[in-house]
Amino acid sequence: MKNILKNIKGTKDISAEESYIWQYIENYIHNFFDSFGYSEVRTPTFENTELFVRSIGGDTDIVSKEMYSWIDQGNNTLTLRPEFTASVVRYFIQNQLHKINPSHKIYYIGSSFRRERPQKGRLREFRQFGIEAFGSKNPEQDAEIISMAYNFYKNLDISNLKLELNSIGSKESRIEYRKVLKSFLEKFKTDLSEVSQKRLESNPLRILDTKIDFEKDIIKDAPKIIDYLSKNDQKSFSATLDLLDSIKIPYTINNYLVRGLDYYSQTVFEIQSDLLGAQSALCGGGRYDYLVEELGGEPTPAIGFAAGIERLILAIENNNRIAKKNPDIYIISIDESSHKYSFAVENSLRRNKKLKIISDKLRRTMKSQMKDANRLMAKNVIIIGEEEMNSGQLTLKDMNTGDQQKLTLDNIVDHFK
Ligand code: HAM
Repeated sequence: MKNILKNIKGTKDISAEESYIWQYIENYIHNFFDSFGYSEVRTPTFENTELFVRSIGGDTDIVSKEMYSWIDQGNNTLTLRPEFTASVVRYFIQNQLHKINPSHKIYYIGSSFRRERPQKGRLREFRQFGIEAFGSKNPEQDAEIISMAYNFYKNLDISNLKLELNSIGSKESRIEYRKVLKSFLEKFKTDLSEVSQKRLESNPLRILDTKIDFEKDIIKDAPKIIDYLSKNDQKSFSATLDLLDSIKIPYTINNYLVRGLDYYSQTVFEIQSDLLGAQSALCGGGRYDYLVEELGGEPTPAIGFAAGIERLILAIENNNRIAKKNPDIYIISIDESSHKYSFAVENSLRRNKKLKIISDKLRRTMKSQMKDANRLMAKNVIIIGEEEMNSGQLTLKDMNTGDQQKLTLDNIVDHFK
């Protein structure tokens, strides 16, 4: 029998102890992207399966084996989004955004779902954030996206960042390359996995993204796409590199980087960190100049990237510390009448919306409440007992210095202004 009291393999509870880190990161994401003029879009968690098949590509691992799909009661074939780009492109076309403005800059945060083998940094429900810029085919746009991805991590003090770039060219450049690559790989056909043998016919570039070691060895000697780029493709790639050089973003060229999704053209990139272990990719992205048109929209160049939040947090936890906000005040009340009075005291103090105030609801002894205040690292404690009730003077204790003073409620309210 299934254990219903255990979360599903590959999913994760974000616990009360760690959620403050998530909130910090989410705030950082909103502020960072907003500062570049990107606006948040929230699309539904599930879409028509066909949207993902046509965008990501039927030969990819994501579509061929990792999607959570089902047929609903109305006979619709639906899928939990394995990524956001397809949904954002659907949103762009559906709302005819190209008519409103020639440029659209969008970001998103939310869960994505892929039925992969779970391991550290790899989940079946993971949280992704990312950005998509529609409208510009210029290298400045490529450089903006790539440098944003790099600086996003750099500003969080994540060290050991490795940015890899490649150009996989326009459709035209790829016609010739596809032929050359295919005839190279055909020499090793019988050594290739069953999946790669199929891909050799349908989509040989996909084989460059293999995770199998013996196939990686074969690929080391394969022809490189960079040698088959058209003049225009070469020009725009080197202009992108120049822009990155001009602001000193360090990168390496990886001629075999093709990424795991089929919609890419021209610039592709990934950022890795060796803090992460096997699942070293912090983020990945690239241009997808044909996708809007292929899905039925007006031809619109676009580029973006996406990143996993779980992996980002793994990298941060290994690296530096984000502090949780400690309570400003812990209110201790000692007997039945002071429990009641403390409820009103707390309410008065709460007019100052910046204060974090905690009070005991277990009617514990003063000693236990003090212990709890220490556990929570409260900065101050207010003690309300019979004596305080009678005199109208409450005890305020600074937990850092140990100093104690008697103050009226009005004085305490002023004290925290
Ligand atoms: P992706 O490389 O498939 O690209 O995913 C982007 C990032 O999501 C990865 O680098 C990784 O950090 C995270 N990620 C992917 N799968 C998992 C998983 N199973 N568990 C945890 N984290 C994961 C895309 O999704 C494209 N839509 C990126 C893009 C946007 N390209 C253009 N625009």
